[in-house]
Amino acid sequence: MTGTTIAAVRGRRVWDSRGRPTVEADIVLANGARGRAIAPAGASTGSGEAVDRRDGGPAFGGLDVTGAVAAVSGEIAGALKGRDALDQAGIDGALIALDGSGNLGRLGGNAVVATSMAVLHAAAAASGKPLWRHLAGDRNVRIPLPEIQIFGGGAHAAGRVDVQDFMVMCPAADSFCEALDWTAEIYRAAGALMKSAGKLQGVADEGGFWPAFSSNEEALDTLVRAIEAAGFRPGDEVAISLDIAASEFGRNGVYKLALDERELDSAGMIALLGRWLDNYPIVSIEDPLAEDDAEGFVAFTAAHGGRCQVIGDDYLVTNAGRVAAAARDKALNAVLIKPNQSGTVTGTRAALDAGKAAGFGTIVSARSGETEDVTIAHLAVGWDSGQFKVGSFSRSERMAKWNECLRIEEELGTEAVFAGWSALPAGARRGRGR
Ligand code: PGA
Ligand code: ZN
Repeated sequence: MTGTTIAAVRGRRVWDSRGRPTVEADIVLANGARGRAIAPAGASTGSGEAVDRRDGGPAFGGLDVTGAVAAVSGEIAGALKGRDALDQAGIDGALIALDGSGNLGRLGGNAVVATSMAVLHAAAAASGKPLWRHLAGDRNVRIPLPEIQIFGGGAHAAGRVDVQDFMVMCPAADSFCEALDWTAEIYRAAGALMKSAGKLQGVADEGGFWPAFSSNEEALDTLVRAIEAAGFRPGDEVAISLDIAASEFGRNGVYKLALDERELDSAGMIALLGRWLDNYPIVSIEDPLAEDDAEGFVAFTAAHGGRCQVIGDDYLVTNAGRVAAAARDKALNAVLIKPNQSGTVTGTRAALDAGKAAGFGTIVSARSGETEDVTIAHLAVGWDSGQFKVGSFSRSERMAKWNECLRIEEELGTEAVFAGWSALPAGARRGRGR
């Protein structure tokens, strides 16, 4: 037994930003070091994700997690006690083997990811370093370029607009701190524009303004006006990033745009997004096609990957094998990295490494159901992902992550390097002077 041997593992039910139950895990090591992490939860989930364990039944709409919590304190604790917390890969492999289902659904993806991240925190605590530094070691890391939601639609706003995230990126800012300053002004300007148009109706699940628009284009127009109203040059200083989350409204090659009352095939979707790329300063598009439309992804990337970042979320589900295959097929040029899609820290890291090996943009991301847990801010910096997606610029489960990056940037002092334009794939930077 060493100081970093796991002495205790405990699960607990806590609550997420949608008021739903979720799993928290606590780890205590023999030397007294502690780690804690909370599982997030998605709403627009990919079918290949690790599967959360929910109780079903009448309580909390079937979403209770007493089974998953009991798995942490019971079976998982039994398997992990006595193991060395520094052996993250060994522990994550043991959790996958113990689950045995292939998708973590037996123990629960929520139980496993909370435990895996708590082990990581305990190991960092034992080293006496902040988590990001524990992960970075001696390597130079960048503070990531944030993409921050201004309007939230899709599954996060009862389908009020088809597109899920209308976001801004501030790659011309000099620092993470300045990128947040700019975003704050744009978020405020967008709110003022909504108010004066009589369309201010509160916020969606990730804190972006509720999208009371009559078309997807109206949202894009309003976003450009907000950027200008805040005093920034759209495209040069502040760019637009979209998460289409097309799996939510597309299946078998048919895309039903409810708001525009249009039904498009895959080629029609690609043409529509091409027009948006022509008309608006968009540098990044996530899940432009549905997860079942592999040919569509290849066609979209062939047509537009030379001028914009093409991110796979539901399509890649933070899976290293899928990332490598997508790179081979030229289906994308960037990957979203969500720890709870993979289920373990090791699997998450492998997906990110596969993305980097392919020359992809890599974006560590939150879920729409979040908490005060800021682990992903440390992963984004410590693993040098270059980009970071957390939702909007309101609600404390979002702000907690942005604020944690501010603290890390401050701690790095003159060593801090903001990723800025360097985080985007070459095509997305082209013609923009970087
Ligand atoms: P989710 O969506 O967390 O609701 O799945 C976030 C995203 O699509 O990026
Ligand atoms: Zn997404």
